[in-house]
Amino acid sequence: SLQKIKQKGTLVVGLSADYPPYEFTTKQNGKTKYVGFEVSLAQQFAKDLGVKLVIKNMNFDSLLVALETGKIDAIISGMNVTNERKKSVDFSNTYYSGDSYFLINKSDKDKLVNAKSFNGKT
Ligand code: ARG
Repeated sequence: SLQKIKQKGTLVVGLSADYPPYEFTTKQNGKTKYVGFEVSLAQQFAKDLGVKLVIKNMNFDSLLVALETGKIDAIISGMNVTNERKKSVDFSNTYYSGDSYFLINKSDKDKLVNAKSFNGKT
């Protein structure tokens, strides 16, 4: 519960860091770091709650059980809502529709047709 999270002073978020740009890993000074927009989201949640963020990286398939057994406080891992999942966990409202786009100038539309067209241009 929220009260428990505040009492222990940590928000333990489970994710599977193999899903860019949602969550993935990067090496910084030889140290593995978790990055991605959902990692930023988790950091902001912890900040808003005034607690420390602890990230538990695991297989995507282990997340639901980890939440049900209290090993983690929440899942933030690009998980879509399904009727099956709704039986065991409570989903928030959606925060990302996936309906976003890559935009280019109209004048380039015949030249830049796929990822290959961008080689040497970025
Ligand atoms: N969106 C898909 C689902 O809900 C896959 C999510 C995979 N996420 C991950 N962090 N590997 O099943």
